[in-house]
Amino acid sequence: MAREIRRGFPDDTLHLIGVLKGSIFFLADLARELGGEVSFDFLGVSSYGKGTDSTGEVKLTKDLDVGIEGRTVLIVEDILDTGLTLKYLLKLFEERKPRHLRVAVLLDKVERRIADVKADYTGFPIPNEFVVGYGLDFDERYRNLPDVCVLQLGSRGKTKNE
Ligand code: IMP
Repeated sequence: MAREIRRGFPDDTLHLIGVLKGSIFFLADLARELGGEVSFDFLGVSSYGKGTDSTGEVKLTKDLDVGIEGRTVLIVEDILDTGLTLKYLLKLFEERKPRHLRVAVLLDKVERRIADVKADYTGFPIPNEFVVGYGLDFDERYRNLPDVCVLQLGSRGKTKNE
């Protein structure tokens, strides 16, 4: 993915915007493969409360530190699910007039899509399972698992080892 991204913008400083907190491992690994000039910024959104179901509501919890006007911007997301978060971000960022605006996602739950959005670069399409690890959480847990794992919930919404 990094090679494909860099091929499209060989001479640009790629301004990576990580969506906190799920994207941090993916952003760190992607950035190290991009080569050339890269800068980072982060923003926070909340689209999920507790548990595994979307509230359908997206809220900005932390804005960017620097402006993106005229920059080549790459939004880095952990997972594309309903697409509501990405739709919100694209609208927000387009208004700030970047030179280019692209989206890289590690995982894509294609069948869950509600909003009409697509990533420009996708790591892996995955089935409709709740996944954790490699930055992805369930109620802030499991982010530090080194691999992406399917979360198995018991009958009362607890994980199987609770
Ligand atoms: P969307 O707005 O429904 O596309 O949701 C995007 C956000 O929901 C992601 O950035 C994740 O934070 C979270 N999310 C969606 N699916 C999962 C999952 O399977 N595991 C962990 N977080 C998820």
